[in-house]
Amino acid sequence: SSPSGLMARSALQFTVLAECSTTKARASTMVLPHATVETPVFMPVGTQGTLKGLLPDQLLALDCRLILGNTYHLGNRPGVSTLKQAGGLHRFMNWPRALLTDSGGFQMVSLLDLAQITEDGVKFRSPYDDSECMLTPEHSMEIQASIGADIMMQLDDVVDATHADPERFEEARHRTVRWLDRCLKAHQRPDRQNLFPIVQGGLDVDKRKDCARRLIERDTPGFAVGGLSGGEAKDDFWRMVHVSTNELPKNKPRYLMGVGFAVDLVVCSALGIDMYDCVFPTRTARFGSALIMKHPGALNLKARAFRLDFDPIDQECPCFTCQNHSRAYIHSIIHEPSACHLITVHNVAFQLRLMKTIRQNILADTFPQFIQSFMLANYPDKK
Ligand code: GUN
Ligand code: ZN
Repeated sequence: SSPSGLMARSALQFTVLAECSTTKARASTMVLPHATVETPVFMPVGTQGTLKGLLPDQLLALDCRLILGNTYHLGNRPGVSTLKQAGGLHRFMNWPRALLTDSGGFQMVSLLDLAQITEDGVKFRSPYDDSECMLTPEHSMEIQASIGADIMMQLDDVVDATHADPERFEEARHRTVRWLDRCLKAHQRPDRQNLFPIVQGGLDVDKRKDCARRLIERDTPGFAVGGLSGGEAKDDFWRMVHVSTNELPKNKPRYLMGVGFAVDLVVCSALGIDMYDCVFPTRTARFGSALIMKHPGALNLKARAFRLDFDPIDQECPCFTCQNHSRAYIHSIIHEPSACHLITVHNVAFQLRLMKTIRQNILADTFPQFIQSFMLANYPDKK
């Protein structure tokens, strides 16, 4: 605790270094217990305490500072008891930098058809041993405490944004506020771990605003925007991000959950988002797809067109893959785990480099020009 005897309510220091003069974009530093993070930032997803196709050392080599893990998966394996005995997930997986954990409810709702949401929590049948399980706000906090993540997410009530029932959305956003209060009450170490609430409210402008206002009253160290990236139209999606960031305080980080397409990282940074996560770059790598900075956005290295293409994936990319291997070579080994590994290295490097470019342009106040050149390079037919 602090000298005054009061427990610090935050384990995070957020400093806005520059604001774009024409968009809502900002460049900041976020000091967390295990790392200083430069924002806007993309967090690669390591669901099970490992990134699919990448080792912690390789993430360090890419200067990645913050990765994401999932409470639901880690609570099952290795489980709370193992995590506690290992001294938390940082030590267990030998990842010295920062970790953020999602609370688990979203994964169960999106992965398991059998999840049932009640006021108490999310009830589901475990895919591990078929037993009936209940993830409550308190239990999610207990697992996230054993993980020791720098940032923990509240358990929220998520509805698919394309789901049509307005009453269900209404229930979900009010329940999310009630569950936040239960998470705050169960939070043991606000001086060591940061708890972020999640703005819900479907695709309704007023409900989003109202939900954000209620969460802001709780004065947490940062905020997330959730319930998007579920297949809604782009203009609805971007509008919801816009109204959410208009409500959220400027002096705290804003995290847009589950978003990772390059165009969304550019647009949502202009709307004032500071943090992102998505399985897309690592998942698409496993399908042989390598991300590039221009139209059409990715190369499908499975295609025969690459069998004599001796260029790297991207001439300008400094990653290990692009410095050492050609498109033709990766194409020739495309069914091997090593091909998936090489593309994953490149795709994660791509995301981190895009975020760095966004940040540098915000700092130089050239972000609008960057957006224009990005759009021209990626959507050349739409001129
Ligand atoms: N990941 C993507 N969207 C969401 C969301 O709305 N809530 C949570 N907890 N995780 C997410
Ligand atoms: Zn590369």
